Amino acid sequence: MKISNLFSIENKIAVVTGGSRGIGEMITAGFLANGVKVYISARKAPALIEKAKELSDKYQQECIPIPCDLSTMEGIEEFSKTIEDNEDGIDFLINNAGAAWGEPLESFSEKGWDKVMDLNVKSIFFLTQKFKNLLSNNASEDDPSRVINIGSIDGLNVPAMETYPYGASKAAVHHLTRVLAAKLVKENILVNAIAPGPYPSAMLGSAVNHDYSEIAKRNPRNRVGTPEDMAGLAIFLCSRAGAYTVGETITSDGGIVKTSTHNLS
Ligand SMILES: NC(=O)c1ccc[n+]([C@@H]2O[C@H](COP(=O)([O-])OP(=O)(O)OC[C@H]3O[C@@H](n4cnc5c(N)ncnc54)[C@H](OP(=O)(O)O)[C@@H]3O)[C@@H](O)[C@H]2O)c1
Repeated sequence: MKISNLFSIENKIAVVTGGSRGIGEMITAGFLANGVKVYISARKAPALIEKAKELSDKYQQECIPIPCDLSTMEGIEEFSKTIEDNEDGIDFLINNAGAAWGEPLESFSEKGWDKVMDLNVKSIFFLTQKFKNLLSNNASEDDPSRVINIGSIDGLNVPAMETYPYGASKAAVHHLTRVLAAKLVKENILVNAIAPGPYPSAMLGSAVNHDYSEIAKRNPRNRVGTPEDMAGLAIFLCSRAGAYTVGETITSDGGIVKTSTHNLS
């Protein structure tokens, strides 16, 4: 019952997509600080390689960058193949890379729709498919492997902005999480989702000119999310403490979804 047993993730191997910044970096930092070897991916190679070096140095733990575009099947196959060439098994797959796109309904482009759906939904399915053998190799009934899909509160609430496929893609992520959880729990791979609220990142920042004060004021907790909030939840889901939690979508949003009074009279 010691914290060191309940929450230890030491000596595990993780793959974090979109680990070069934002929420992916927060989870990667939490893993590295607690003894996990982490593979991170993103498209922009220089930023990814620099981030991996920065985090490896900071936490004195191996962080390995693999540049790739996960919105294409070629990118997904190349990524999983590279890790297969280096590891016999992995413990955690964090499907975090995602994109948003906003346009008025009347002129919303097919390009924007496909970009969001390909990365946010299709890539999560095929990454899980391609990494299934590696996850299985490290999975046991006592110590299951884990998949965490990063959804969004926009997949639970109706978003205020005109980001039509984004909310739909995240609702799909939450449901795909349940569908994959039902299949993979039989193979000792536990699939869950995290639905973040506002966390400082390139994605959210560009929507609010990197001024989070208004968003913070509107949040029930009077702030935006921090790396500790995100890393702590991911560590819980990957640890012994989270080994009976399956198919869940857990919000990390300061209470936006669960304390909304919009529907109350
Ligand atoms: N921040 C929030 O408030 C918030 C709220 C709810 C949900 N989320 C979700 O959290 C996840 C992370 O978002 P974030 O806010 O941290 O965004 P971010 O700062 O824009 O980071 C996105 C990451 O994904 C990578 N990426 C983007 N397109 C990719 C592609 N085609 N192939 C491979 N990697 C790709 C990016 O690197 P490159 O650009 O170099 O590829 C980057 O590392 C997303 O799924 C997002 O929907 C975020």
